[in-house]
Amino acid sequence: MNFHTRKWVKPEDLNPNGTLFGGSLLRWIDEEAAIYAISQLDNQRVVTKFMSEINFVSSARQGDIIELGITATHFGRTSITLRAEVRNKITRTSILTIEKMVFVNLDETGEPAPHGRTQIRYADELFEAHRRDSDKASVGSAETFRRRSEERIEDAAH
Ligand SMILES: CC(C)(COP(=O)(O)OP(=O)(O)OC[C@H]1O[C@@H](n2cnc3c(N)ncnc32)[C@H](O)[C@@H]1OP(=O)(O)O)[C@@H](O)C(=O)NCCC(=O)NCCS
Repeated sequence: MNFHTRKWVKPEDLNPNGTLFGGSLLRWIDEEAAIYAISQLDNQRVVTKFMSEINFVSSARQGDIIELGITATHFGRTSITLRAEVRNKITRTSILTIEKMVFVNLDETGEPAPHGRTQIRYADELFEAHRRDSDKASVGSAETFRRRSEERIEDAAH
């Protein structure tokens, strides 16, 4: 599991007990998981469908630095299942675990759509895929430019 995002627990994140408010933590982890699902499925239109039990294992306090970890545990047809963990960055003490978070891949009409993914893609692979797509797009636009130039020359000749 990769712990990409770090958060610094500040006064506005605390509950009346003086420890990290569960709602703040859930907002952070839902966003982290959504970004992970978007990256893996290469689609901005994903929604949280299901979350299993949330285990608030231990408290975080003001000033603590915590880190959020997500990994994919299952690729379905239209869904992706993730596992989440939050821990103290220094002590590695576990703060929260969620065994199962299901995100669904949607099409333009908001209906579940097959995503075609079967395994985790890592940052290098995602970057390579993006680079290949950009290269294809620029070859495509060079081809369009060449065609349009030829059309303009033909227009001028008539
Ligand atoms: C997401 C939504 C479009 C899915 O609709 P649906 O009718 O449940 O769709 P389906 O039955 O085709 O299921 C879609 C996928 O979700 C999975 N799924 C559905 N219910 C599930 C549940 N309770 N637990 C786990 N997975 C579930 C299905 O197995 C399927 O995955 P697969 O294709 O990989 O097998 C709809 O439920 C919805 O709009 N929910 C609200 C989402 C939302 O607003 N989230 C909060 C803000 S992001």
